[in-house]
Amino acid sequence: AQNERDSLFIALKFAGEFFQDVLWNHSEGKSIGLSYFKERGFSEATIKKFDLGYSLDAWDGLMKPALEKGYSEEILEKAGLILKSENKTYDRFRGRVMFPIHNVGGKVIAFGARTLRKDKKQPKYINSPETGVYHKSDIVYGIHQARQAIRNEDLCYLVEGYTDVISMHQSGVRNVVSSSGTSLTKEQIRLIGRYTKNITVLYDGDAAGIKASFRGIDLILEHDLDVHAVVFPEGEDPDSFSRSMSSEAFQQFLKDNAQDFIRFKIGILANNISELSGEEKSEIIRQMIESLSMIKDEVKRSEYIRSTSEILKANESSILIEVNHKILTRL
Ligand code: GTP
Ligand code: MN
Ligand code: MN
Ligand code: MN
Ligand code: MN
Repeated sequence: AQNERDSLFIALKFAGEFFQDVLWNHSEGKSIGLSYFKERGFSEATIKKFDLGYSLDAWDGLMKPALEKGYSEEILEKAGLILKSENKTYDRFRGRVMFPIHNVGGKVIAFGARTLRKDKKQPKYINSPETGVYHKSDIVYGIHQARQAIRNEDLCYLVEGYTDVISMHQSGVRNVVSSSGTSLTKEQIRLIGRYTKNITVLYDGDAAGIKASFRGIDLILEHDLDVHAVVFPEGEDPDSFSRSMSSEAFQQFLKDNAQDFIRFKIGILANNISELSGEEKSEIIRQMIESLSMIKDEVKRSEYIRSTSEILKANESSILIEVNHKILTRL
């Protein structure tokens, strides 16, 4: 019901403001949360721009003031802010730095929360559950702060994490969003597609990042958007890498290293194209056909088939036949 949605928005807004108040004004928030963000290199302006906060390391840090303000346990629970077991009710987020997730219009709909502990006993991030106002597969983190820039640049950078989005803003790249832990969905691609038809994926330079980028690329192609990718050095993500250099150098790096998905995929699959065995080459072609067959637009598809055959020195018409076969069998 509309009434309940409104109540959830109001409770989430209260929580977001409370976490920020704790971060900036409470001794625990300042000494633990604010100093964590500053040590990560986030400026005060950046911390404010993303409404970052801190949740007290207590069972009722949020619940107590919320109940005093008149929010019901029922609404707090439905908003994903508190948890109820048989004999106790307690805050979901405790002792974590808080990343509010906004909808396109800027309303808080959920939170991502990072632990500050080094031990592996707790998950690094916990997120709000699905609620009446938060469907994680329908939203990308940062869209509210990024949408104007995405339109202006006619390009959206897609990264893995919250901190990647934030650090890139600080480096002057504002057309950036994150799928934040969930693997990219078609709803998220459609959302980005309202603002641009061009996505450049910037995934972490590790095996998981490469795997996720391959999957993401095929899904983006399937939804008729253009996709490029940038390879990050191993062990780096856009957050760490952007902080290791000047804003100008980082922006230049993105421009110099964005490859179309053909060159990106082949570059990762083949260390040295001229030294591939026949068998290795067929396997790469097979994987390229997978992506090529996702492209809806025929003109684009034949262009990309041509460049695949050129780069791999492979027969264009046999790739074309295989791609068409794949498309037909999928129908
Ligand atoms: P930092 O370590 O703070 O720099 O975060 P990161 O964004 O670099 O983390 P990572 O590359 O490991 O993960 C990318 C994104 O996946 C994060 O921003 C989260 O949204 C999500 N994620 C990572 N770890 C977890 C986890 O333990 N649980 C959940 N639910 N999500 C996670
Ligand atoms: Mn949904
Ligand atoms: Mn990673
Ligand atoms: Mn990362
Ligand atoms: Mn990181």
